[in-house]
Amino acid sequence: MSQAVPVIAIDGPSGSGKGTIARRVAAALGYHLLDSGALYRLTALAAQKEGVCLDDTRALARIAAGLDIQFGSDASGDELILLNGADVTEQVRTEQTGAGASRVAALQPVRDALLGLQRTFRKPPGLVADGRDMGTHVFADAALKVFLTASAEERAQRRYKQLKGKGIDVSLAALSRDIEARDRRDSERSVAPLRPAEDARMLDSSGQSIEAVTNTVLDWARGI
Ligand code: DC
Repeated sequence: MSQAVPVIAIDGPSGSGKGTIARRVAAALGYHLLDSGALYRLTALAAQKEGVCLDDTRALARIAAGLDIQFGSDASGDELILLNGADVTEQVRTEQTGAGASRVAALQPVRDALLGLQRTFRKPPGLVADGRDMGTHVFADAALKVFLTASAEERAQRRYKQLKGKGIDVSLAALSRDIEARDRRDSERSVAPLRPAEDARMLDSSGQSIEAVTNTVLDWARGI
């Protein structure tokens, strides 16, 4: 049955706008949404809560395989993520959790442990999956594969505005350095490095509005 359920894979580096675009495309098409980065983030967060060290591969794979999570929305329609029944929405999005996620995502046993869980999100009428290896690995048969990029400078600017908006004080230079370091780690790692699928369509969102990028993906989706 899963063959009949179309998947739109949206991959790319952190800050390229994947999350926002994936959410909008899923809403416009009435598709389900998989934020695969959140699963790596939740693994890192659960490890931190259990006092498990981020280089204990076996323990991390066990945590990934047994994640008790729920994705939903709160009363005002904002994202809500539960881990073991507790609201961790804010903690999932912190820079610290992101850095932890990048470390656990480099471990093959953790990736293997999360594979089946990711594929369970593929349900009718369709799925929009956002991550790094959606088109190359998890949903290699996706009907549409988009590789979304933006310049490192623009990604740092977006993240800066986002954090400032939440009242979090950060330096733009430090954010740029973090983004570049994470890009390097994600694309140079030996395990599932970030790269576009051969049949992916490249989309550079630098200088483009969210609406324009969403519409481009929706135009492409109409052709599948
Ligand atoms: O997209 P994000 O910032 O939430 O991802 C967090 C980390 O997880 C990031 O360092 C890359 C990693 N990741 C991955 O390796 N594979 C995915 N499919 C999604 C995220």
